[in-house]
Amino acid sequence: MARKTIKGIVLAGGSGTRLYPITRVACKQLLPIYDKPLIYYPLSTLMLAGVRDILVISTPSDLPTIEALLGDGSRLGLTISYRTQEKPEGIAQAFIIGADFIDGDNVMLILGDNIFYGAYDFLRQAGEFTQGALIFGYYVKDPQRYGVVAFEDGGRVLSIEEKPARPKSNYAVTGLYVYDSRVIEIARSLTPSKRGELEITDVNNAYLEKGELRLVKLERGIAWLDTGTCESMLDAGNFIATIEKRQGQKIACIEEIAYRAGYIDRRRMQAILGSMGDNAYSSYLKEVVREVDGGS
Ligand code: DAU
Repeated sequence: MARKTIKGIVLAGGSGTRLYPITRVACKQLLPIYDKPLIYYPLSTLMLAGVRDILVISTPSDLPTIEALLGDGSRLGLTISYRTQEKPEGIAQAFIIGADFIDGDNVMLILGDNIFYGAYDFLRQAGEFTQGALIFGYYVKDPQRYGVVAFEDGGRVLSIEEKPARPKSNYAVTGLYVYDSRVIEIARSLTPSKRGELEITDVNNAYLEKGELRLVKLERGIAWLDTGTCESMLDAGNFIATIEKRQGQKIACIEEIAYRAGYIDRRRMQAILGSMGDNAYSSYLKEVVREVDGGS
């Protein structure tokens, strides 16, 4: 089957009540994880997967600020559009909101608070996706907080349960999902769960029933970081800081990714640098340009 374009959705809404009072006026996805806003991380994951046409969904009050930060994406060689989610009625609602954006193509959804770091080979698999559903499992200590995969003896996926009291494995389903465009109809056919949400787990089970769900287990060398609580946000920030200080290379530097991938040329990069002023971030980017251009 011919490979279709993969469009991207960043779902960056939610009520943010768990981080009160930090999120009283500020949106969670704009809070810092060490040296950049949280939303840079999921955005960079889409970019590294080769996704360039991206829809950002957030609340009516937060969307304008996110748009002020990311703009129309042209600065990064991307196309970024925006849509509101009036109420947090479930992750799967993203496909209903984004139906005309998806427009028959495949779609990669990432939750706006998910951070992935490590060997990004799994993203290549996502980029090579053709049809059905592709999700990623990650071994965690506390699976009951997530969608959890139950496996048959042979390793085949048996079911996915949302926040089970007694998890059948330690594999949590991460907040990165790839689907074909049938996901829109599947999302439309769902009924809200007990917590009043259109559950992404129900979408995954619908593909599983069709025999079209593929799960890739992320290896131990990959970090999938949680930012759901104040403590996990601090841990994530410390983790990023540790790696960046050790290597002198930034994680989720969206301008760097765009430049290295050839999404933007040198002139565009110089314009970006000109607008940034003198700071550690722009000094870093100047180094990147020097390195990529071979000192020219
Ligand atoms: O992080 C992965 C987990 O995400 C999965 O393992 C679960 O299967 C999936 O249901 C989800 O778990 P949570 O219920 O913990 O997700 P939460 O409600 O925290 O929402 C995740 C992010 O998505 C959060 O930043 C807010 C945003 N969101 C959520 C909902 C329900 C929205 O923007 N709109 C929504 O309607």
